[in-house]
Amino acid sequence: MRKVFAGLAALLMLVIVLQFFLAASGAFDSAPNEEAFRPHRALGYMSVLLALVLTVVAAAIRLPGRIVGRCGALVGLAILQPVIAVIARGLGDSDTSTTAGQLVFGLHAVNGLMIMAVNRTVLQEARVLAGPASATGAGAGDGAPRPGSAPAS
Ligand code: HEM
Repeated sequence: MRKVFAGLAALLMLVIVLQFFLAASGAFDSAPNEEAFRPHRALGYMSVLLALVLTVVAAAIRLPGRIVGRCGALVGLAILQPVIAVIARGLGDSDTSTTAGQLVFGLHAVNGLMIMAVNRTVLQEARVLAGPASATGAGAGDGAPRPGSAPAS
């Protein structure tokens, strides 16, 4: 199951990179926002679901609390993305944005970087825990090897 967890964390990293790709291609699209950002929006909500599954799996296979905690933080940060979009839209009116709305929406991209950074640490630890050492039962619980730590003798 640790390999499944590492696979899910890698999948989430792919989704995050795709989100940046779709945001840029949406920004270049001359279609109305509603249409231009549809793929980005859809995958954005999928990323919330994927972060949730990651957290449930991490807890179910009893990974160290710090990893379960970071997965939970990923769920919170992913939910924050549409919240930021809704608040930014709320600060403008139907077809014009305000400076306040633009400043708030800028946080959407910064939060996207945060999601990537947190998931990178989860993926790093997941790969160590899924590695050969973990097959022998070494690394169960909070004594789990950390990235860069000396292999269990
Ligand atoms: C991990 C990265 C990201 C996630 C999970 C994410 C998620 C989302 C979600 C869920 C929505 C839909 C909000 C709604 O319901 O209206 C959305 C909209 C949007 N996102 Fe992202 N996003 C990410 C990164 C980015 C980045 C890096 C940019 C641009 C630099 C960006 C630009 C936008 C734009 C322009 C919209 C549409 C706003 C509108 O409807 O007018 N996103 N994003």
